[in-house]
Amino acid sequence: MSQSHADAAIAAAPEYVRHEGLKQWVGKIAALTEPDRVVWCDGSVEEYDRLCAEMVESGMLIKLDETKRPNSYLAWSDPSDVARVEDRTFICSKDRGDAGPTNNWEEPEGMRETLEDLFARSMHGRTMYVIPFSMGPLGSPIAHIGVEITDSPYVVANMRTMTRMGRGAVEALGSDGEFVPCVHSVGAPLAHGEKDSRWPCNPTTKYIVHFPETREIWSYGSGYGGNALLGKKCFALRIASTMARDEGWLAEHMLILGVENPQGEKTYVAAAFPSACGKTNFAMLIPPQSFDGWKITTVGDDIAWIKPRKDAEGTTRFYAINPEAGFFGVAPGTSEKTNYNAMATLRENVIFTNVALTDDGDVWWEGMSKEAPAHLLDWQGKDWTPEIAAETGRKAAHPNARFTAPASQCPSIDPAWEDPAGVPISAFIFGGRRATTVPLVYQAFNWNFGVYMAATLGSETTAAAFGAQGVVRRDPFAMLPFCGYHMGDYFNHWLKMGHVVEDTPRIFCVNWFRINEEGKFMWPGFGENMRVLKWIVDRCKGHIPAKETALGWMPRFEDLDWSGSDVTKAEFEALTKIDTEAWSHELASHKEWFDKLQDRLPRQLVLKRELFELALNTD
Ligand code: GTP
Ligand code: SPV
Ligand code: MN
Repeated sequence: MSQSHADAAIAAAPEYVRHEGLKQWVGKIAALTEPDRVVWCDGSVEEYDRLCAEMVESGMLIKLDETKRPNSYLAWSDPSDVARVEDRTFICSKDRGDAGPTNNWEEPEGMRETLEDLFARSMHGRTMYVIPFSMGPLGSPIAHIGVEITDSPYVVANMRTMTRMGRGAVEALGSDGEFVPCVHSVGAPLAHGEKDSRWPCNPTTKYIVHFPETREIWSYGSGYGGNALLGKKCFALRIASTMARDEGWLAEHMLILGVENPQGEKTYVAAAFPSACGKTNFAMLIPPQSFDGWKITTVGDDIAWIKPRKDAEGTTRFYAINPEAGFFGVAPGTSEKTNYNAMATLRENVIFTNVALTDDGDVWWEGMSKEAPAHLLDWQGKDWTPEIAAETGRKAAHPNARFTAPASQCPSIDPAWEDPAGVPISAFIFGGRRATTVPLVYQAFNWNFGVYMAATLGSETTAAAFGAQGVVRRDPFAMLPFCGYHMGDYFNHWLKMGHVVEDTPRIFCVNWFRINEEGKFMWPGFGENMRVLKWIVDRCKGHIPAKETALGWMPRFEDLDWSGSDVTKAEFEALTKIDTEAWSHELASHKEWFDKLQDRLPRQLVLKRELFELALNTD
């Protein structure tokens, strides 16, 4: 521990920092990590430009062509550091049982010792940045504040786009406000005179650690995405979910979108899909041409914080904010055709990570255009041509390559996206990648059945998730990697929250990913998802009838608007078919999953499963 480091860190605080507790904590971390210098970030554009210029100088960023992609940069990570590391993510509650069987747990005191050893002198040769940030619009009653300490300038630049960062957050904190302390180090101290690598990280040791009781985050060894931008998954989901349980609100892995019908009525819905399953696409959906007068607006694409509050008429409803200020979206597969609004958002002021570089200083990734450029540098900086790709199967962009872009640049951004009061939620939608079994859309009979459906949500694994591709894993509420406490308690919290609001949101399940015998997607997806979304909104308003099935309410062919579509009635029947045998297997696998949660699984869900089984067998 070095007192001189602590003194220097505190002395570096700007005069507008009035929070003694914050200064003392920053001093303590500086004493532990011993950085060469300390910078308190103010969030200004000058600071952002200076940091980016320094990273271009050091080789960490490539400046893209100023006319093609103004004010934008490309980072290539270390090949060992390309995604979240679920097996290195820990929930260190006092009691092992509180973390539950789906989280890695270690005894908090032991973990603190491990972290002390790892972080000791971990910032040698580096600059320590202090990043005060607000998750949610500054001063919103739904927002909360965090402060991240990091030795990565890449993290600072990304946090500026992803959160409300800098002086404003410090001022909102005042002299005694509460903040979630987040400590991050890439875990690569530099010896005196040692040359830095392009993407410093610790190739062998990674720890993403949460202390739910004390609301602290410690992250070591990775510089990538959710491992390092601690406002996102670590705070806004894992820590916030425990805050939400204690305080009676919801912190969810959900997009938020607005649907405006031709009469100008607005309905907001929130939708949970697992990582890389289409949240960004759905949040920015452009309706088919035949949907004259219908408009989709975007509030958020990844996370929703939802609190109950009385509306003007005195009815208690859920109001949601997007705690983030930017999109950290999956690049591969994004094109003018699949997501026009995302492509427009990416025109300037973007940080790209692990996409390919074109010869004229722009970016490219698989799926961006039909034809690949004749020559690229791939995400590892190696020569890439379509011929090399055909021979070796090597991808130009990493499958989990991402863009960091300001939400304000999105053409479909909702006028209320920064409303501190949030937007009222009328429906929750849950969906995963399911090649079989799960129909295109159905509505749960009631809140508790909806919680059952969400609790048993399954998805085939993708690049953002750890593990083999094409295997169904249960991803309850799309929160499996993000719930900061026992999943059984989380289900119970959701069951309880159904009673807190008066006009309870309706719950729906969707599946865009059913596959036919030829292995092709049966549903056209993307903008065509509007047909399903319209049905959902109409159901919320009680406008249209539906068919009762064992799963819940489902549309008949004639209940969806097919204008301008070439989906046939036979295709629709195939997309919505309930295969009784497949569903008995599904229910058996629900039971296996529930058995893991044991005594903390709410009785209500056990009963719902039995009811479901009965309904299926008498259908
Ligand atoms: P995270 O940011 O990881 O939480 O993921 P996300 O849910 O925002 O993922 P995103 O929207 O980036 O999904 C990316 C993948 O989903 C791409 O491969 C898309 O092509 C695919 N996708 C999105 N919508 C659809 C759809 O309607 N149909 C099909 N078949 N694929 C889709
Ligand atoms: C996800 O994996 O769900 C993401 C990306 O949104 S990351 O922020 O890296 O976790
Ligand atoms: Mn996500």
